[in-house]
Amino acid sequence: MPTLSLFGSPWLHHPRCGSTSDEARALGRAGKPHGTVVTADEQSNGRGRQGRSWFSPPGDNLYLSLLLRPQLQPRDVPLLTLCAGLAVEAAALDLLRSAGLPASEDRLVLKWPNDLLAKTSVGLRKVAGILTEMTLSGSRCDFVIVGVGVNVSGLQFPDGVPATSLRQLLGPQTPPLSVHDFAVTLLSHFEPLYQRFVSDGSSWVIDAFSTRAHLTAAGQRLHVQTASGTISGDSLGIDRDGALLIRRDDGYVERLLSGDVSLGTASL
Ligand code: BTN
Repeated sequence: MPTLSLFGSPWLHHPRCGSTSDEARALGRAGKPHGTVVTADEQSNGRGRQGRSWFSPPGDNLYLSLLLRPQLQPRDVPLLTLCAGLAVEAAALDLLRSAGLPASEDRLVLKWPNDLLAKTSVGLRKVAGILTEMTLSGSRCDFVIVGVGVNVSGLQFPDGVPATSLRQLLGPQTPPLSVHDFAVTLLSHFEPLYQRFVSDGSSWVIDAFSTRAHLTAAGQRLHVQTASGTISGDSLGIDRDGALLIRRDDGYVERLLSGDVSLGTASL
């Protein structure tokens, strides 16, 4: 098992809570240190992006929130989501490869800005989601909560939720996987990515993320659902701030900081 040097001290675990991100935010307000981790076996009010709920049944999956106190400008904070996505994917690949899944790398794809998807026989299915929330102090970033939900071992998902788990990818005969081990592996990947991001800046994050985010590669025809409606056009890729650039049919280039991407007519 990897050892952690930056994150996980303290690490608070709840058998059940509303949302690990709410717990972590309260700890942030109470002055707990950079790197504090909150996990739970179950969440009664797991939250996703855009006010959605996050399916959080007991035991099988990872619900983790990390408290960070980064020396970053608020405008750079969304890039932490891309860093976290790279860490989640790296941990998932470690697990799938060590379990002997052939061509593991080809089975996973990052979806801008915050999802890890898997290619399955019934299409793309969500394995993990990231919710990054910032608390400001005046115009300065006081702390950030990176909330990560990963379907590690669960085999059941609500009707209509296009999700799968790492265990399901390995085959339903696979015994339950250790959620705690997965959390440690994820954090061990996130530590060096985080350190490199704060010391070297963002351009390598964008390059690394773009390499694995095939769905938003330049030239793809996309529909992006945003708070102000759906935008359709051709992707120009991700810019240096982590925003998705879309050239609409009238030639206007939209710069999107968040949204739900779908490809052609298919919903992802
Ligand atoms: C999304 O895909 O919309 C993001 C989902 C993030 C879910 C995680 S689970 C741990 C943390 N606690 C929450 O309430 N949400 C995040």
